[in-house]
Formats: sequence, structure tokens, C-alpha cells
Amino acid sequence: MAVFLLDASGDPDAFEALKERLAAAISDLAVIGNIGDVARREVGGGRAVALIAAPAQNREYFSRLLDIVTRYRGAVFFLLIGGDISASEYKALAQSGSADWVSDSAPLQEILDIVARQRGGGSPAPSAAAPRRPDVVSFLPSAGGVGNSTLATETALQLVRAKGGARRKVCLVDLDVQTSHVCDYLDIKPQLQIDELVRAPQRLDSHLLEMFCSRHDSGLHVFAAPRSRLRHVELNVEALDAFFERLAQSYDVIVVDLPVEWRPWTVHVLAASQGVLVTGLNVIPGLRQISETLAAIRSEPAIRGRVLVIVNRCEIGALGRVARRQHVDAVLGAEEKLFIRASRVVEECANTGAPMAIAYPSHKIVKEIAAIAKFCESVAARHGVKK
Ligand SMILES: Nc1ncnc2c1ncn2[C@@H]1O[C@H](COP(=O)(O)OP(=O)(O)O)[C@@H](O)[C@H]1O
Ligand SMILES: [Mg+2]
Repeated sequence: MAVFLLDASGDPDAFEALKERLAAAISDLAVIGNIGDVARREVGGGRAVALIAAPAQNREYFSRLLDIVTRYRGAVFFLLIGGDISASEYKALAQSGSADWVSDSAPLQEILDIVARQRGGGSPAPSAAAPRRPDVVSFLPSAGGVGNSTLATETALQLVRAKGGARRKVCLVDLDVQTSHVCDYLDIKPQLQIDELVRAPQRLDSHLLEMFCSRHDSGLHVFAAPRSRLRHVELNVEALDAFFERLAQSYDVIVVDLPVEWRPWTVHVLAASQGVLVTGLNVIPGLRQISETLAAIRSEPAIRGRVLVIVNRCEIGALGRVARRQHVDAVLGAEEKLFIRASRVVEECANTGAPMAIAYPSHKIVKEIAAIAKFCESVAARHGVKK
């Protein structure tokens, strides 16, 4: 299957830069002068992919392109790479089943993922994909400042890289809207407009979702709201349903960072989660708070996901012995649990905006967090989604 690249951007320098990056990753990339060249070339078996560096805000070009998409349907998959397009334009592309759009500020990997999907047997565009349930894993703090956001973020990052080097589509949803801080940990800008989501949940289409998304270089997508704008906006079940339904169409795994106070929608989110990860600290009051949180979860019959306790900031000896382990066992009994060490690299990474999974991939704490990611994967496996 051939991959073609066409410049319609009118910006030769930007095109040259894009071409170089793409050519380094796609060995059979062929630059073409116009769309007709795709048809004239020997396409070989399967559908060709045409990557188009799109012009900015050009309605006329867009409608011509749509005609072409329709004409070559089945033979060529078109990927428009450019600045923002309108919601109706995006819808028209997605509905064709043989075209998609990606922002020119998106990481290269996103384009490569789409090309790989097309190469892998011409699966339909995301909007045409069959509806399916993604895996939802929710991190629920038992108290404030226990490391819930840190662990949710680091786990989500590790989940992006599936076994065998493949990438999973993973998003991290920060529902701790009052004190949201996952974007600080990743040094990205929050984009989610909760007030807009609450005002008109039915308007949330893939284009709007794209606008709400903050992309991390690792391939992780983050949905988090800027702290200051939110003080008076309360999420609700209707908005969350529309939001998660959209996310389900685009992601394999949804990792949720919940706030410490239970909101009117907390149980709803936990009920939709296949994994509930309760975070807390290894001190007596911390263990009691974990135990109380577990009791609250178990009192809700709608919450049926597998529960894991994560005891964070532990002192762990050289031989892997957890200090005060007997206290943990006394308070939490036979609960399924994992221990994460206290380490200065956590603060250091928070300060520099470089996640530990990337800055210290072989650090012991990253390996301990890998066990959380493994739990999430096993929950997913039970849930029956092919990985
Ligand atoms: N294992 C750990 N070792 C050392 N510091 C940690 C650890 N986990 C979290 N922290 C620090 O604790 C503080 C609170 O973490 P955060 O993830 O924001 O918690 P929460 O989301 O529960 O409020 C942060 O300063 C973070 O860097
Ligand atoms: Mg937090």
C-alpha cells in the first residue's frame, strides 16, 4: 500500500519540514504534485493513503477535496494535515469513511498511527468504527495530597506503550476540576471547557473533543480544565455521559483522576469503571481513610469494578521490604494492594514537568507503577477488549 504526500498548504517551508519528518518514518513515502497522481500511479494491493498538507481556512479547497474523497472512496484514504477546521467540515470528512483530519500541531506519531491503521487492512475512519466499550480505570484518592494525580498520570503514560512496542490510544481525564493539576505534571496546557460541555452536551462531536484535548509528546491525550475558570461550574451526569461516549469512540483506555470529595456524579463514574484504584498513605490515619473509602465503594451496589488499593509514599528497604507492612495488613486485611515507594524523583519530576516514566524509565518507582499499569491491563483483558 502506497503513502503519498501532497502540498496544498501554500507554505513551502512548513511543507518541507513536514516532508522530512514523515520521510524519516515512512520509507515508501512519495511526494505527488496533484491528487490525480494517486490514481495514475501503480497503487498495488489495498487502499492508498494520501497525506495532504492543507491550506489554512480555505472553504473552496475543502469542498473540492470532499468531491475527490467521494470519487476515490475505497481506493484512497485521505488524511488532511492542517490548522483547525470547522465542526461541519470535520463531520463531512469523518462521515465519508475514507478521510480524517489531524492538527498540524499534533505529534508526528498521530499521523503515523493513522497511516498504520490504514495499512493494517484498511480499517474504517474512527467515526465509522463500530461502537464498543473502552476500559475505564478510575483513581480515587482516600485523602488529599496522597499522590492520586501523580499515579494516574504515570500509569496512563505507561499504558500508552503496550507490550511489543505497539501503542494504545489512552486518554487521561482529570475530573478534579477545582484543583486540577495533571497538566502541570506534564507541562501541557489544559484545554477542556467544562462550562461548554455542561451547557450543551449534545454538541460534543469529534471536532470539539479534539479542541478539548491536550496532547503530550508521549502520545497520551489529556482532558483537563484550566483551574481558574471553573470555580462555579459543576459537572453533571448528562454532560459526563456525552463526554465518555465520545471518548469511547476514540480511545482504548480511559484513565480517570477523581477528586477527593465525592460529587453527585462520582458513583456514576465509578460504576462505569472496570477498575477502581484507591490511593492512600501508609500511616495509621491514612490507612483508616483508605478503609473508609473502600467501605463507601462497597456500599454502592452499582460499583462492580475490580478494586486495587495503592499505598503510596512507602519506605521500601533494599530487599523490597515495606516498612510498617503489618499495619497495612492489620487495617486492610486481604485487599488486593500495591506499594509505591516515597522518592525524591517524584517532586523533581513534578517541578520540571518531565514524567518519571520518561525521565527515569529504569527507576524502581517506575517499575512499581508498572504493576499498576499491569493491573489496569488485566482488568481490560477480563473486560474482553482485544489488546
Ligand atoms: N511516591 C511519592 N514520593 C514522593 N512524593 C510524592 C509521591 N507521590 C506523590 N508525591 C508528591 O505528593 C504531592 C501530592 O501529589 P498529587 O499527585 O498531586 O496528589 P493528589 O492528586 O492526591 O492531591 C506532590 O507534591 C507529589 O509530588
Ligand atoms: Mg490531584
